[in-house]
Amino acid sequence: MIITRRGGAFAALLLTTALAQAAGDVDRGATIVMQGDGQGGAPCLACHGSDGAGNDGAGFPRLAGLDAGYLAAQLRDYREGRRISAVMAPNASRLNDQQIEDVAAYYTVQTLAVTPAELPADLLAKGEQLVKQGDWDNYIVPCETCHGPGAQGVGATFPGLSGQHSTYLRQQLEAWKNGTRNNDPNQLMLAIAARLSDEQIQAVSAYLSQQPTRRVSP
Ligand code: HEC
Ligand code: HEC
Repeated sequence: MIITRRGGAFAALLLTTALAQAAGDVDRGATIVMQGDGQGGAPCLACHGSDGAGNDGAGFPRLAGLDAGYLAAQLRDYREGRRISAVMAPNASRLNDQQIEDVAAYYTVQTLAVTPAELPADLLAKGEQLVKQGDWDNYIVPCETCHGPGAQGVGATFPGLSGQHSTYLRQQLEAWKNGTRNNDPNQLMLAIAARLSDEQIQAVSAYLSQQPTRRVSP
């Protein structure tokens, strides 16, 4: 699904959010996050934090404020082996569909401020250029084309990248490049990642990690 008209994107976003929130229960999600799935699974907070902050150095992604439909789709992909991660597979394997909707509903309503880091200005400038203007010489479309203004995400299909940890962003772009992540619809991301140089991956990950996240009203 690619939506180009602003009004359409906004309506789709509202619809996705409304449906996801109707399906998932924030309180039941909180129990799984704090105590595990009741069948021996680790509590999600051990790695992602109770506030969904994740951990940059450890490569644990921030989940706070990501679209509930996107979070649920990724959990189903881990559970069913479409997205491969030795660390996440055992955490997703025991969750049923309802539990997946519940943890997604919990993390989507968490809000977090971005922790500012000291990063070289030329690196940030290169990253900003990729996000807003792309690199037409190498057929790289601006990230904002799909991930929305400020790369804050559009609906369940295009996740927010702003405020995500740079280590995790880098790892995902490298995973597409080397073929270990390939669960994206129509291989939209593979086509982008394959053309990014290592230097561009560094720059775009650094820049995105410093951008404000999407505000979510509960
Ligand atoms: C032992 C640490 C650990 C635990 C516990 C854990 N995760 Fe993860 N999680 C990770 C790592 C590492 C990744 C990145 C994996 C990859 O590269 O695909 C990840 C990725 C994810 C993603 C994908 C995020 C994105 O932006 O695509 C979701 C959603 C997620 N975890 C949800 C959960 C939930 C819900 C739980 C609890 C039921 C949980 N995780 C427990 C370490 C953990
Ligand atoms: C043609 C559309 C398109 C463009 C342009 C695009 N992306 Fe994506 N991107 C996607 C889709 C779709 C996904 C979700 C993949 C999935 O469902 O697994 C995604 C996911 C990602 C993820 C994983 C996020 C997470 O939480 O795991 C990263 C990182 C990413 N994109 C970075 C970028 C960067 C950097 C650019 C610009 C250089 C970019 N994307 C441009 C479509 C696009």
